[in-house]
Amino acid sequence: LSNLNEIFQPIQDDLAEVEVIMHSSVQSQNPDLSAALERILAAGGKRIRPAISLLTAQILQGPMEKIHFLAASVEVLHSATLVHDDLIDNSLIRRGMQTLNAKWSPGATVLTGDYLFSCSARLAAETESTKVVRRFAETLSIIVNGEITQLFSGPCRLDREDYYQRIYAKTASLFETCSYCSALLSTEDRNTHEVFRTFGKEIGMAFQIVDDILDYTGDQVTLGKPIGSDLQQGLLTLPLQIYAERYPDKPFVKEIISGNCLDDRESIQALISDITKTEAIQESFQIAREFSNRGIQAIEGFPRSDALDSLIKIARFIVDREM
Ligand code: IPE
Ligand code: IPE
Ligand code: MG
Ligand code: MG
Repeated sequence: LSNLNEIFQPIQDDLAEVEVIMHSSVQSQNPDLSAALERILAAGGKRIRPAISLLTAQILQGPMEKIHFLAASVEVLHSATLVHDDLIDNSLIRRGMQTLNAKWSPGATVLTGDYLFSCSARLAAETESTKVVRRFAETLSIIVNGEITQLFSGPCRLDREDYYQRIYAKTASLFETCSYCSALLSTEDRNTHEVFRTFGKEIGMAFQIVDDILDYTGDQVTLGKPIGSDLQQGLLTLPLQIYAERYPDKPFVKEIISGNCLDDRESIQALISDITKTEAIQESFQIAREFSNRGIQAIEGFPRSDALDSLIKIARFIVDREM
């Protein structure tokens, strides 16, 4: 995280302002709800998404006051999806703390997520840009469609195109929105809009690939969330896809290819530990690096500045991170 603090240097004051906006945006009439939302915000998180919006605007000399609302909006939207995601995944730890669903009923958890979506929508409206609000709605529908498809597509699928679509929907679409909406608010130049749209999308793909790798190789304490949970849920991510292509004859692979999910903890653990010993991990990193490099290439042509440097460093951090 110290690394990120350095990268965020050019936007330190803006990020502090975004925290203030987020806290005031989640005030509610119900004290239990307010306390829960305060806890969620106080648990932190890397704040990568708002940082991308802020740095984009700094590069393009955008209207910072509006960008603060945009940045708060994307982070609150992200938090809302996590509240729902942890309930759906039945996950009990996030950002090193107990999740809401560990303490509250599913109903109360869903409603808290809904409330956060409403806060996020209000913040998006503060930008006074119809285009931003439209993209905001579009992003939410892409995420929900992706999650529903994942829930209903049967337990296991081994298909690269399907995987890319899934990670675009769940993660890259929001990263795309962070930089694209910031560009929309900062300039009229369509070409610039597309450049930043590409940047966000490509590094968002890299971000989810690395999240999926860390679910195999990561440290639970550093990550602040459980590992090994994707396979347990029957979610076949890139490391497993590469492993299955390379080693079709290894134990469990035939079962997975034929569509059977592993349901006992021991076979899952054995498979995870075997995958982490192969080059499937490094190859997954390589693919993440390619996405991240395409993002960097998109913005490299802009005149050098601290903000541009930081945005490029975020793209690199995404593939080097351990949290
Ligand atoms: C976690 O996102 C959810 C994914 C899209 C993989 P982050 O890793 O950005 O979570 P925080 O905000 O830092 O906790
Ligand atoms: C989360 O993806 C995506 C959304 C929140 C929409 P993951 O399920 O991989 O995120 P983690 O690993 O729980 O943070
Ligand atoms: Mg999850
Ligand atoms: Mg994950």
